Amino acid sequence: MPSRQPKIVAVIGTRPEVIKMAPVINKLKEKDGWKTVVVCTAQHREMLDQMLEIFSIAPDVDLNIMTPNQALTRSFSRAIEGMGGVLDELKPDFVLVQGDTNTVFATALAAFYHRVSVGHVEAGLRTSDPHIPFPEEMNRRLTSVVSTLHFAPTARAVDNLRAEGIPAENIFLTGNTVVDALLWIDRKFSDLYPKIAQEILARDHRIVLVTAHRRENFGRRLREICEGLLELVRLFDDVEIVYPVHLNPAVRQTVFEVLGGMERIHLIEPLPYHEFVRLMSLSSLILTDSGGIQEEAPSFGKRVLVLRDETERPEAVEAGYAVLVGADKMKIVTQASHFLSNNQIGIETGFNPFGDGKAAERIVKYLEKFLNGGI
Ligand code: UD1
Ligand code: UDP
Repeated sequence: MPSRQPKIVAVIGTRPEVIKMAPVINKLKEKDGWKTVVVCTAQHREMLDQMLEIFSIAPDVDLNIMTPNQALTRSFSRAIEGMGGVLDELKPDFVLVQGDTNTVFATALAAFYHRVSVGHVEAGLRTSDPHIPFPEEMNRRLTSVVSTLHFAPTARAVDNLRAEGIPAENIFLTGNTVVDALLWIDRKFSDLYPKIAQEILARDHRIVLVTAHRRENFGRRLREICEGLLELVRLFDDVEIVYPVHLNPAVRQTVFEVLGGMERIHLIEPLPYHEFVRLMSLSSLILTDSGGIQEEAPSFGKRVLVLRDETERPEAVEAGYAVLVGADKMKIVTQASHFLSNNQIGIETGFNPFGDGKAAERIVKYLEKFLNGGI
């Protein structure tokens, strides 16, 4: 392993990977004498490009693998094939991946086959069921098996990895880089007031922000979630729902079918990160099955109804921000009504159990130690 001029490949494939890897890429680029190569698989196209622009990241390599309505096997095979070629050509000293998408596991496995060490950012998140969330839970478990360095966001994630037999000296408690990204964007765009929020708040109405895109919610479950949202606007005449709809056709079909054209329900296109963050801060309540949003909401003291049966981010539940409601219409309506009626919307801000905004700095520090032979 060279101690000077290391070549690091940072890989991104989807929207959340750009958001959470951007702080790491920025820190890597500050290192004198290091060569950082940003590779995007483009498992997502439009949603990735939207985020690359906000974070001013220009990938050095773009594999452009996305195909419409891609099967899991297809995105995986295109990613591993593409990454194999990249590793052959670049011969990096180290590869960094973030999260639990197909890009992440395909890259980690490709690197293993090429005998390149992998660092896994956001390592150690676990549910009790390998199928929930699907396929992410399996992707991250398998990524742990082939990774060398494990950057765990929380103490619980560290424990999860230890329990699976990962050597303690290879696990690092860093915090989640999403907090780094969020704080940076929030500071930079603190004056931004998205148009949709201006309109809703000018009517003296409250904003309920919604996202849902997980594969295990496709079909009947997503339909029931949407019916819960319909019921909520029926019950509260001062509530307006803002739902930026994910570009996955399986999501859009159900969401537009059930909610399209409904009064006080705004189905909009995915928002650039800075607008979404501001909208989060102006919302009265958030309903989501997203992983990242569960981690971001505490920074704004917002309550989140988690549209899942289990979460790999129990820290948000324990800290009082998140409540699991699954895809159960009754639970969604009852819990949301409780928060909306009792004005129990905001809670103490300032404490985010997922990080302090310095995760990327720590990750690069540990990586440097590893590259210098100190780990
Ligand atoms: C993927 C990840 C999921 C992550 C999510 C973040 C996997 C298996 N899934 O899910 O873990 O939470 O990204 O959003 O890795 N599409 C577009 N344009 C885009 C993005 C998606 O048209 O910019 C459409 C395409 O038809 C694509 C489909 O969405 O085939 C599904 O994309 P895919 O990346 O396979 O799954 P996601 O549901 O986005
Ligand atoms: N997000 C965004 N615009 C949107 C919806 C979400 O910028 O219209 C951000 C959100 O703040 C979070 C991330 O995208 O940081 C979550 O991405 P997604 O829900 O696609 O993936 P997950 O977190 O579930 O893996």
